[in-house]
Formats: sequence, structure tokens, C-alpha cells
Amino acid sequence: MSQPPAKPDLVTVNIDGKEIAVPKGTNVIEAARLVGVDVPHYCYHPKLTVVGNCRMCLVEMGLPAVDPATKQPVVDPTTGKQKINWMPRPQIGCGTNAMPGLHIRTNTPQIKDCREGVMEFLLINHPLDCPICDQAGECKLQEQATGYGRGYSRFIEQKNVKPKRTQLGPRVTLDDERCVLCSRCIRFSKEVVKDDVLGFIDRGSYSTLTCYPGKQLENNYSLNTVDICPVGALTSTDFRFKMRVWFLKQTNSIDTESSVGANTVVWSREGQIYRITPRRNDEVNDTWMADSGRVLFKQVRDDSRLTAIMVNGQPTALDTAISTAAELLKAGNVAIVGSGRSSVEEQFLTKKIADELKASAQIVARAGEGDKILISADRNPNTRGALVTGLVTKLPSAQLTELAAAIDAGKVKTVLAINEDLAAAGLSAAQLAKVKIVYIGTHASVTSDAAQVVLPTLTVFEKNGTFINQQFRLQKFLEAVPGVAGATNDLDVLTNLLTAVGGAKLLTDVASIWASISAEIQSLAGLSFAAIPETGKVIDGSAFAALAFPEGETLHFKPAAKS
Ligand code: SF4
Ligand code: FES
Repeated sequence: MSQPPAKPDLVTVNIDGKEIAVPKGTNVIEAARLVGVDVPHYCYHPKLTVVGNCRMCLVEMGLPAVDPATKQPVVDPTTGKQKINWMPRPQIGCGTNAMPGLHIRTNTPQIKDCREGVMEFLLINHPLDCPICDQAGECKLQEQATGYGRGYSRFIEQKNVKPKRTQLGPRVTLDDERCVLCSRCIRFSKEVVKDDVLGFIDRGSYSTLTCYPGKQLENNYSLNTVDICPVGALTSTDFRFKMRVWFLKQTNSIDTESSVGANTVVWSREGQIYRITPRRNDEVNDTWMADSGRVLFKQVRDDSRLTAIMVNGQPTALDTAISTAAELLKAGNVAIVGSGRSSVEEQFLTKKIADELKASAQIVARAGEGDKILISADRNPNTRGALVTGLVTKLPSAQLTELAAAIDAGKVKTVLAINEDLAAAGLSAAQLAKVKIVYIGTHASVTSDAAQVVLPTLTVFEKNGTFINQQFRLQKFLEAVPGVAGATNDLDVLTNLLTAVGGAKLLTDVASIWASISAEIQSLAGLSFAAIPETGKVIDGSAFAALAFPEGETLHFKPAAKS
């Protein structure tokens, strides 16, 4: 007899003989996954509506038998358990949600036949492109042909010919012959981006995916269609033919475009990054990310990258540069311009340097229009980190007007600029000429050109660290590739500089710095770098509830209502 629900919101279902309690309404494909049973599928996607058009997820379904007259369970005399009424025809798993007593069979001869039949239909017109197809290594058609297909073809007719290498937009290339008409890309565009741009034309085996007349797949989320296309029909124009995916190392990272902090995976080989894709986090970005965040890795090898430690325009050693910088800073009248793009650890060390020097510290606001999906109005990934570490106590502004006035008044003689271009933040060339500048950063700018000391550091792809996103979710990013030659880890630079200006001598690795952070910052107490979960950890941000953060609503964020 079926077990009663273990909890009020849980229902017990039986999948291939295994009972499991799942939240009511759980999709059968997801419920099966929980007991380690794979229900193959193409059109189903956990973050899109269910359409049930590929038929790959067919399963046998049954419900406990009840006597219609007495409403009592019908007991099977051979087993002594409640009889299960199995439906005579297979049903789609994706279109069924868990209900009390639901029985599913995925491993019967009928289901094996169904899957072989569906695979055969899908493959009759599919080109034999696999050796040159970019999807090889992550193609559901390949995987499921191996796992559930017949293993040989009975098809002797001519395959359909459809458009190949169609540019659907600036970043997405379509090979229509490979499309299995799952409609994931259509639903994603319509449901998530609200850009109804894709559709099918023609019927039967002539059905073809295309853009609506006069439209292009050009929204800033277009590459998500490539991620969710289960076959090689949609490919990234940038990544196409660059590298086989099985050669690539995957490293967890964070999109630094805005305070949303979409979770990402950086794919690299031998120190070179080839692509960035989204990493599922149901609390932040679901399974999506913006196209604009996928090209950020190009900054790693950009021509403007700083690769030489300089003092007064001459290449020098790190020790010399640090002691020169310390001398300038210890002379007094210092202002520190930190960054909302720096990690929590870097901001923590910057705050310590500011305290040691008794210098004012600020960061630069970077604002843009939010897209209500995964890009917020705050284009810094870590404004909240600067608040939590105490580097700043108020929201930043985009222009350093107070600093400009202090320089003009002769109150500031030296500026320590970290990853911010002071000229872009409003300081004039004349003002830059009035002060000594110590610049710690990754790329050349007007500020690095004007600086007396330049300490090149690492991009987010070359180091470990954490950011705090708009939800006060502490999220970590990991080193995907080694730093470029000539650049020093920011933590090395900042800890050395801290010691050189008279502060404590701290170990430079991120784990050790976290020991200090968790000991000193109350909202981060008890945390260690290693213990931060892959999907991040929400910390207490109530101390900043009164601040008027600029963000509007995004996918999983609603700004607190202001009274
Ligand atoms: S292009 Fe890919 S995602 Fe779109 S319908 Fe075809 S198979 Fe599905
Ligand atoms: S996944 Fe169920 S019909 Fe496609």
C-alpha cells in the first residue's frame, strides 16, 4: 500500500520500485532524478514551461486502485499491497507532476521500445555531422542515441536538406538540419527575455526554426539559447570551432557586470579562456547569464593589460615598488580610492591600509540601466562588500567631486587608486598632476599613466575571492587561469603594502585572510573561504537597510520597499 505523505507538503511517489517523498507538484523527471533514475528528455527544461513535444520522456504511469463503489483500496492478493492501475499507454514524464501514490516505471520493454522509436525519428533527418559538430561532447542527441537508441539505422531514403550556417543574430549561428524542434530556444526568448523572435515554419519533417521576418536574435541573452539547445543546432559564433569541450577545464566564477552576480563557469585550457557559460543558481540567475558577461574574459589578454611594475616610469622589483609606495603614503595627506570591483578580501585589506594611514576611503559608483533580468543598475559587482568591510559607510557616487576639491585645496597630496581610473571618475589632468599616485590595477588608464608607482594585479579570472551581491549573498570566484606574467596577486600587493605602511603582517592567501575577516567583521563571523557554498551564502545586511541602493527589480531580487 502506498505510504502516506511524510510531511504535509510532501507526497510519496514510487519510481522503478523506489519510494521517495518529494514536494507536491515536483515534475516526474525531477522526482526520478532524486532517486538516481534518468528520464531522457529534450524539450523539458526546468526553467521553462512544459510543452511535451519531443516525446523522449515517455514513462509508464499508474495510480493506486480504489474500488469505485466502496472507495476502499483494492488489494492485490498476490502481494498483499494496494493494486496499481497502470495506464495502457505510456505518458510523458515532463507533463506530469508528483501526486500521492503515483507509480512510474522507466525501465520496461515498452519504454525501451518508445525511446528507440523516438530516437529513430529524431535521427532520420539529422545530419551525420558529429565529427565536425561543435556540440560533440555535450550533445544530448549523441548521448541518448548511445544510451537509448537502437544502435543501427534502417533509414535508406534521402535526408532532408535545410539551411546551414544561418546567422540568427550577431552571436548565434543556426544549423537547421540539426534542430530536433524541441522549442526550448523559442520558449526561452519568449518567456525569459520577453523577446518573441524565434518560431517554426512549415510542417512535419520540413519544420524549420527561424527568426520572424524582420527580426534578429540579438538580445543580450541570445547565447542562452545555445546553452539550452540540446543538440548542435544553435552554436556560439564566437566559440564555434575553437576548442573541443572535453579539453576544457571548468572553474566556478561570478559575472562581474553588475551587482546581480550571476554564477558562471569559466572554460579554459592551458592558461587560455575559451568561453563563459552560466552556472545554475536558483536563487540568483537560474540557468542564465547575459551575453555581455561572456566576453569579459577577453580583458585577460587585452593589449592594455599592465604587465610591468613601475616606479617613476621605470620597471622595478615588487619590493622596491612597495617601499616607494609606502614612503609616499606615509608622508600623509592621503586619499584612497578603492573599488566596487575589488573582492571582499581586497576591500578588507584596503580598509586596513586606510585605517593605518588615517586616510579617507571611497569607491566609485558605476551605474547603468537595469534590464530587469540579470543586469542591475549597480554595475559594480561588490558595492555591498565595500560596505560590509567598512571600507565605505555610504553609497558611492560616480564622480569624485569631494576628492577633486580636496586636491585643489591642497589637503590631499597622495592618492592610492585601486582598479579605478581617477580621470574617468572626474579628476582633471591638472588635478592628477597635483598629487602623487600609487596605482594598483589590471589595465592601463590615464591614472596608471600619471602614477609614480604602478603595481599590476590580476583580473577576476586569475585569482580567488568573494563578492557580495545585491541580495547580500556572499559568493566566491576561483582562479581559472594563472595570472599574466608581470602581474602580482592583489592580496600579495595589499598585504605587503599594509605591512610597509606599519600595519600588521598578514599571510597573503585567501584562506588566511578569511581567518582575519571572520574574526573582525561581525556579519561574516564564523565563515571561512572553503565553507562558502557554491551557490553562495546570504549574510545579514540589515545594517544597511536604510541606504537607497540603486537597483530595481531583477530576476530574483526585489528592492526593499521604502516607506
Ligand atoms: S534550435 Fe535547438 S533549442 Fe531550438 S528548437 Fe531546435 S533543437 Fe530546440
Ligand atoms: S521532455 Fe517530455 S515530451 Fe519532451
